[in-house]
Amino acid sequence: MREKTKKILQYKDLYLNQIFRRIITQNFSSGKVALGERNTYTNPLFPLDWIRVDWQDADYNINLSQSPNLPFKDNSQKLLYSAHMIEHLSSQSLPKLLKECYRILKPGGRIRFECPDAEKLINLYLANDEKMLSHFRKFRQEILINKFGYPEHYIEDHLSVLGEISNYIVEGEWVHVPVYVPKDEFDKKLETLSFDQFFDWCISLQTPEQHQSGGHQSAIYFSKLCLMLEKVGFTNVTKVDFGETTIPELKLNNGFWSIKEKPHRSFYSLFIEAEKLN
Ligand SMILES: C[S@@+](CC[C@H](N)C(=O)[O-])C[C@H]1O[C@@H](n2cnc3c(N)ncnc32)[C@H](O)[C@@H]1O
Repeated sequence: MREKTKKILQYKDLYLNQIFRRIITQNFSSGKVALGERNTYTNPLFPLDWIRVDWQDADYNINLSQSPNLPFKDNSQKLLYSAHMIEHLSSQSLPKLLKECYRILKPGGRIRFECPDAEKLINLYLANDEKMLSHFRKFRQEILINKFGYPEHYIEDHLSVLGEISNYIVEGEWVHVPVYVPKDEFDKKLETLSFDQFFDWCISLQTPEQHQSGGHQSAIYFSKLCLMLEKVGFTNVTKVDFGETTIPELKLNNGFWSIKEKPHRSFYSLFIEAEKLN
């Protein structure tokens, strides 16, 4: 097909998609916003009426690390949900984004986050939890070693934890490739450093390129996120489980218009909800 015709068809698709998104999200005023979700995911978490913000392929394309400003009016949204995105933001950007979330929610509005729970991951590793370790081992054998040809030592269990705290994503593939350190060094740091120092050390192992291209920037756990949410004004901060919610309007895992949370990552995820009272 000639280049010009190809370009015209691409623009037509883009234009039709934008019209479709405007209709389905009631011209971007459905009051439901998903942060870190694209329109192009084949297995989307969020129903179609959620307005999607991501650094690409979303209703609003914003790099929330560089500019954590949300394009919504004060007190204008009912529900915000972000799944496995806030760990990609730096310790400077994340509090700014939470402040923005608080600003745009209506009084009574609610927020829910899902992200890797750094504390849970460490506790499962220290307890030698076979369920977690074999889950990651299988995945790493299939993807990193068999598919991408990484050396055999990438199967080691401490790298599963390192991979979730400070990952690197292969370009074009959703694969978490951990930065490599020997087990002795990892265990020694875990033993001698405080929790936060340890997480900072894990994240500092990324090269600048890994840092730029999808590595995690923040290690999150309940008491840390709870404090950050309360600091910007949220109340009723509650830790919940996979598929459970304190938000009456939120539909989870039940029908076309509900959010389809991914069960495979639920055992190491933190699920947290909070409310803007007034
Ligand atoms: C691990 S994926 C999660 C996707 C989906 N929400 C889910 O739960 O499966 C992280 C998402 O956050 C987006 N993201 C990461 N860093 C971002 C940033 N700085 N600004 C905006 N979006 C970002 C990525 O593009 C990606 O869509």
